[in-house]
Amino acid sequence: MTLVDRPTHVRAEVSGRGVHLWWGDRSADLHPHWLRDHSTEPGQIEATNWQRLFTPLDIPADLYVRAAELGDQVLVVDFSDGHRAHLVLATLARDLGWTADPDAPPAPEPWTEPLAEFPYVDWAGIGWSDEESDNDAVIAFLDAFFRHGYVVFRNTPVDEGTVARIANRIGYISGQNFGWVFDVRAEPNPTDLAYTTIELLAHTDEPYRIEPPGIQLLHCIANEAPGGDSTLTDGLAAASAIGAEHPDWHRALSEVEVDFRYDMGTDTVVNRGTVLQYDRHGRYRGIRFNTKLDTPLPRPGDDLDAWYAGRRWLTEWCNDPAHQVTFRLEPGDVMFMDNHRAMHGRTAFDASRGRRHLQGCYIEHNGPDTMYRLAVRRRAMLSR
Ligand SMILES: [Fe+2]
Repeated sequence: MTLVDRPTHVRAEVSGRGVHLWWGDRSADLHPHWLRDHSTEPGQIEATNWQRLFTPLDIPADLYVRAAELGDQVLVVDFSDGHRAHLVLATLARDLGWTADPDAPPAPEPWTEPLAEFPYVDWAGIGWSDEESDNDAVIAFLDAFFRHGYVVFRNTPVDEGTVARIANRIGYISGQNFGWVFDVRAEPNPTDLAYTTIELLAHTDEPYRIEPPGIQLLHCIANEAPGGDSTLTDGLAAASAIGAEHPDWHRALSEVEVDFRYDMGTDTVVNRGTVLQYDRHGRYRGIRFNTKLDTPLPRPGDDLDAWYAGRRWLTEWCNDPAHQVTFRLEPGDVMFMDNHRAMHGRTAFDASRGRRHLQGCYIEHNGPDTMYRLAVRRRAMLSR
């Protein structure tokens, strides 16, 4: 546990059944069960994995705090069940949201025009293991990804299957209805519009899954056909923009339930949800935007005029070159993008005049989140 600088003014006293804690200009009543659950005394947690060994049934429901006093970096609490716990103040402050999680990745930064510098990442700095990587390069890659929602790796092998190795270097590959790894190229009987040569407007992948894929990787093996340039737009910025300019349309896209459906007859994948997702604190959670396969499910009071106007507005905004970055994938490049935020597309291409072959797969968000936290801890250890 990293100890953080304590403000000079820290004070604790028993209050009701719990403890009132003052921390600088903040203070809170801490519930006795919340405090008890923070105990890391011997026998309370397993020493290797730090998971709690006691259950709610082991603690009296009417638990209360008998005494509380501050020690060196700890709050010492005596509970009515006879347990005494030395609670690390830095942990309590972090879990109360009073201090930042020292390992947490940076917050997203919405962008409404191409970044001043395209976020290319040389794969040589990431490597195939922690031992062969440059830890600062790993942190720089993840920092750019979390801020902007995408990066493009350069200088990866051009062999088929590379995308799966890269996925498993950063997280764990997650399969879906196209398998573990899918090939993006023109097919005679396409199971998705991606497997044609037509233009694809800005979209997110697989909104029809109960949990849409977290992060998509697209590895370029060949890109010799005229056309086929890639585009990316920031769905987070798009959501903010429509919220500021057209609150009614934003509300409809956040509230009207939509049926997202992939139906090949042989393979049917269905999910229902809203285009824009926020949690109950109003924090952005994601966008499902794919006008090829969305159908609103109106309920009494739903404003479909607003929903369709908002969908049209998003389609225009997200495909406006002023808001998009357009670039060309070269063999050995891997686009790495947050599918809950970065909306991708491509221009049409002429398959009769050259080969275009990408391989793709998905991982979940925990992959880069975990990689970032471990890299930051490694940097802290190395600097000691
Ligand atoms: Fe796609």
